[in-house]
Amino acid sequence: MRVLFLLAAGNTLLASAFFIPSTDAAAQRNFNTIFDEADQRILVAPPHQFIQAGPNDRRGPCPGLNSLANHGFISRTGVDSFVNIVAACNQVYRMGTAASTAAAVLGMFGGNLLDPTLPLSIGEPPSIIGLPGPLVAAPPTGLTNTHNQFECDASLTRCDLYLCNDSHTLQPKYLEPLLDMYTADPSIANSVAIVSQHHANRIADSIANNGLFFFGPVQMIVGAFTALQAPSLFANYSAEQPEGFMSVAGLMSIYGVSRAASGTLTWTRGSERIPDVYYRRPGPLLNQWDMPIILPQVLQMWAQFPETLSIGGNLGTPNTFFPLDLGAFTNGSYTLDDLQKPGGINLLCFLYQLVQILFPALLGNVDDLLAGVFAEVGRVTEGVLGTFDCPRSMDAVNMTMLNQYPGWVKSLPKTKAALPTDQSYMQQSHLGRSPLEVPV
Ligand code: HEM
Ligand SMILES: *[C@@H]1O[C@H](CO)[C@@H](O)[C@H](O)[C@H]1NC(C)=O
Ligand SMILES: *[C@@H]1O[C@H](CO)[C@@H](O)[C@H](O)[C@H]1NC(C)=O
Ligand SMILES: *[C@@H]1O[C@H](CO)[C@@H](O)[C@H](O)[C@H]1NC(C)=O
Ligand SMILES: *[C@@H]1O[C@H](CO)[C@@H](O)[C@H](O)[C@H]1NC(C)=O
Repeated sequence: MRVLFLLAAGNTLLASAFFIPSTDAAAQRNFNTIFDEADQRILVAPPHQFIQAGPNDRRGPCPGLNSLANHGFISRTGVDSFVNIVAACNQVYRMGTAASTAAAVLGMFGGNLLDPTLPLSIGEPPSIIGLPGPLVAAPPTGLTNTHNQFECDASLTRCDLYLCNDSHTLQPKYLEPLLDMYTADPSIANSVAIVSQHHANRIADSIANNGLFFFGPVQMIVGAFTALQAPSLFANYSAEQPEGFMSVAGLMSIYGVSRAASGTLTWTRGSERIPDVYYRRPGPLLNQWDMPIILPQVLQMWAQFPETLSIGGNLGTPNTFFPLDLGAFTNGSYTLDDLQKPGGINLLCFLYQLVQILFPALLGNVDDLLAGVFAEVGRVTEGVLGTFDCPRSMDAVNMTMLNQYPGWVKSLPKTKAALPTDQSYMQQSHLGRSPLEVPV
């Protein structure tokens, strides 16, 4: 069962990759003709009415998942299976299945890999009562405790873990400037640029204040993808504005904040709420928020705000940002320039290959199990993926290079402390070669 889920991840990535437009212009949205009231209205009547989460319900760093749980689109407990989470992201917000599967695979860093339904807590660790033996040694942590695996620094509205000892609570002082920018410029054409600007500002803020700021290759990509989710999935795709209006009221509601008469912005845990009248993205596959749209958005973000393409971290004190030499890290497979090639295929391949390499390295006690799962995926997908070609392969990365970043090193003990530091060490891919790579 586990193998099948991960196989599905490979296939959907593949399916969407076929549709990667050759030019950024091809990804321009043209939603005008396809608004469909019945299909796009998000129905929040019972059983999907808003109910504020209780103290024992799990809630975490992702406003999208928190809102799905508060409306019972996934379990209101905040712990649900891999497939239910992927399905709800797709059906409620029209996050494409490739993107939501990829996110859920990353989410499994905090999930329970020994249960065939792959349950994941979207927040705090789930109760471990009744868990099988091996998990007592490596209990699922929940999304909240996936720092530097999924949860990362410089988030739109959350504090850096080592700055506040809390990276899941919404900080009004970070959301406020984003709301201000959307208020000042409500044009849909700029909604992605605005969140990109905010993302760049948050990175600058982390560099200036968090000596343990770490923005490795995975964090850089996760940060970009999650930032882009706000304007892409939280906008109101109504008949009047079918391309998706970044309603400040809608954003506040889904983020779970309210403003007092005095002007003070307050966030309440468990209160992320989908507005009563709200419209999701249109249903047709190419309008869903998936790779053909995401990749050009990321490239546009990097081009407009080059700071968002920073890979590296501070060296222990603020303002010591030191870039990671990506070419050396990937043993010559990718440079920053390669990631920016039009169409985003290098970016997609890099992320997919990197996660395959890092997953076993970072999972702690269950890594052997997962290595087996990945090997199986590689074997089974070999023929299926045979027509798709990643321009570059990446078989290993030099994890030792990350040890220069104290923010990375600090996040290691709860995962796997055993990465050797005393010798040259290349973390090998557990696949003979990338399953996306095809010999010519
Ligand atoms: C499988 C599905 C998903 C998983 C596992 C997931 C997980 C996460 C995680 C771990 C973060 C924290 C990243 C960070 O530290 O910055 C995050 C952030 C975020 N997610 Fe999700 N997510 C999923 C789906 C969604 C969906 C469907 C939406 C929107 C409808 C969404 C919107 C966001 C936004 C806007 C952020 C940035 C939060 C902030 O700092 O303000 N996510 N997500
Ligand atoms: C950090 O947060 C954790 C979890 O909330 C808590 O147990 C711990 O005491 C906190 N540490 C500090 C130094 O505040
Ligand atoms: C979403 O758009 C609809 C149609 O224009 C509007 O009635 C509704 O108030 C909007 N919702 C929010 C929260 O802005
Ligand atoms: C790194 O690249 C060189 C040159 O392409 C190759 O000979 C070597 O095997 C690679 N190292 C690893 C660990 O893959
Ligand atoms: C990996 O990086 C470390 C630290 O920069 C370096 O000393 C080592 O030679 C590198 N290993 C390989 C195989 O390139």
